[in-house]
Amino acid sequence: MNRPAFPFWPMEWWMAWWEALTPPPSVSLLSDASQAGALARIHATAFARPWEPHEFERILCERSSFAHGLWRSGTLQGFVLSRRAADEAEILTVVIAPALRGGGHARGLLREHMNGLALAGTRRIHLEVDEGNMPALKLYKRMGFTQVGARTGYYLKADGSRATALTMSAEL
Ligand SMILES: CC(C)(COP(=O)(O)OP(=O)(O)OC[C@H]1O[C@@H](n2cnc3c(N)ncnc32)[C@H](O)[C@@H]1OP(=O)(O)O)[C@@H](O)C(=O)NCCC(=O)NCCS
Repeated sequence: MNRPAFPFWPMEWWMAWWEALTPPPSVSLLSDASQAGALARIHATAFARPWEPHEFERILCERSSFAHGLWRSGTLQGFVLSRRAADEAEILTVVIAPALRGGGHARGLLREHMNGLALAGTRRIHLEVDEGNMPALKLYKRMGFTQVGARTGYYLKADGSRATALTMSAEL
């Protein structure tokens, strides 16, 4: 057997062991503004200009808002937030906490969210994404979004440069 003897097994082994013992994340509707602070904290891990807790609180209190959270062991680990108008919706933001990124968790989160939107009467979903954001682009394409346009220089980045936003949409 090639594996080193306990306790000198590689870090990957211990991480896989920890993963196996930790319950899988679950997705549920965020139906009020009580998680606004947690949303702001997760959002700040991903964006140079994060939204303040009071901004999340205001958005979550709007009747047109629709949000789902990704939970693990009772802690919010990600969310997706949309705004509905008639039979259309716009995804405002989707973020997974850094420790869980790359694990495919956004797919289940977005699937549940899109199913919820469809049940609420939404027929088409729109979003904007930085053309250089490969994980997000791959996620959206996998979830059925296709590019419908581009806005050159739309995003102002932290270093002062500008990035193109791709506009995408999906039929439900
Ligand atoms: C975008 C985001 C929500 C994706 O969530 P996730 O759970 O990490 O997504 P996944 O693990 O399913 O990865 C999505 C795809 O990107 C790929 N990917 C992951 N990291 C990557 C990287 N650094 N470079 C290129 N591709 C990458 C994955 O392999 C996967 O592709 P696949 O479906 O073909 O296998 C997450 O990365 C995130 O929170 N990013 C910061 C916030 C953000 O950019 N939000 C979107 C714009 S609003």
